[in-house]
Amino acid sequence: MSRLVVVSNRVAVPGESRAGGLAVALQAALGERGGVWFGWSGKTVRGASGEIREHVDGDIRYVTVDLDRADLDAYYNGFSNRTLWPLLHFRLDLVDYDRATRLGYNRVNEMFADKLAPMLRDDDIVWVHDYHLIPLASMLRERGVGCKIGFFLHVPVPSADLLMAMPDHRRLFSTLYAYDLLGFQTRRDNDRFQSYVRLYGGGRIVEPGLLEAPDGHRFRTGTFPISIDTPLIERQAAAAMSKPALRDMRASLERRMLAIGVDRLDYSKGLPERFHGFERYLQRHPEQKGSLTYLQIAPVSRGDVGEYQQLRNQLEQIAGHINGAHAAPDWTPLRYVNRNIPHATLTGFYRSARVGLVTPLRDGMNLVAKEYVASQDPEDPGVLVLSLLAGAAQELPQALMVNPHDLDGVADAIAAAATMPLAERKERWHAMMEHLRERDIHAWRRDYLAALEAA
Ligand code: UDP
Ligand code: G6P
Repeated sequence: MSRLVVVSNRVAVPGESRAGGLAVALQAALGERGGVWFGWSGKTVRGASGEIREHVDGDIRYVTVDLDRADLDAYYNGFSNRTLWPLLHFRLDLVDYDRATRLGYNRVNEMFADKLAPMLRDDDIVWVHDYHLIPLASMLRERGVGCKIGFFLHVPVPSADLLMAMPDHRRLFSTLYAYDLLGFQTRRDNDRFQSYVRLYGGGRIVEPGLLEAPDGHRFRTGTFPISIDTPLIERQAAAAMSKPALRDMRASLERRMLAIGVDRLDYSKGLPERFHGFERYLQRHPEQKGSLTYLQIAPVSRGDVGEYQQLRNQLEQIAGHINGAHAAPDWTPLRYVNRNIPHATLTGFYRSARVGLVTPLRDGMNLVAKEYVASQDPEDPGVLVLSLLAGAAQELPQALMVNPHDLDGVADAIAAAATMPLAERKERWHAMMEHLRERDIHAWRRDYLAALEAA
């Protein structure tokens, strides 16, 4: 079996707890097969980028590089998270395009290629992840790397007309043609990417999933919905219930039902809309008032980026307003927590919640939706309220589907979830669980790697 080399900006080095679907999923995927995981160390240094750190844990070798502050600002805070992230989440209004950050993005990708190329063997399989590293394969090829290289995009692909609005879009997006296989979360993402290649990318669709670049060479695309380690989460959730953190949280509810949201503090997650939807629930369903407490876990993310700082201020205001208007001396309707909660503890929180609120405005997949389902008690499962704009909606049609922009709809879905009879809860949960048991993280990794090896 060839050696697997995974490359991503974010690396889950053991002992460092970090929210984010990519790190959680790749840890699970590498755990079964082993291999090398290469990326940013998460550390910034003064002076030049590129100091290498190594850490071996079981079958996984973590190789990470430090980034200089200015490089990080241009590559990560700048072009990745102020240009590409909003663009790929359909938020042209938030795109900040700057030639200098784009140069920084290329510089860091070149540095990654310089460090990685000498480590690679001809029979390795290289799997590159996400929007931070789009040009990496083309740069590795320039350095003579001939092995199979695949790419997986964790975030959505917007329509071709949005992609082409980015200045000099073709120069960046055509570097994707250097990969052997491009993987997307949903069929719609795959379709929209192929439309872009045909309309604005100078390429041609030979047949669905087989594309031809302007120079005539061919590459493949496919749909591979990312998932979770379903049996592991089931076990963790059951075990978590006896942890002190869980016992304390449950005692503090005083027998009220719990609704839970877990999201990085990111504008793609629709948090202001969700808070307003919850307030609308309190207004529209006075008969339920005081019977349900909403806990929102929202660890701060990308805190150096202005849009994220503004969002944080905005949410503090809305939360204060809701509690000011609706709290009683013995009850706070909304608990808003900015701390990162360890993954295993979270599963116990999910299991304690009658309602799981997952209402992003756009999301590539949303693993929290899947984790919430997998964590439930089979004898008394909770109800997932899910945005139809999350990738997960394609796979979990038995959730209560909402449009996150429709506050009345979100409000009514919370009320329906809180009062849903046990038989219906079980029925919906069983259907979703059956899917998650079959399509787990290992199926995702196996399907992708088999397609890459065949490409
Ligand atoms: N997560 C966590 N602790 C937290 C918040 C989130 O471990 O306090 C994890 C969560 O369990 C999930 C991931 O971070 O595995 C978030 O993935 P998702 O796909 O939902 O969203 P992303 O953050 O990747 O946009
Ligand atoms: C999303 C992105 C990942 C990223 C994660 C956390 O899931 O697709 O690439 O790692 O968010 O964000 P961060 O900027 O902290 O890595």
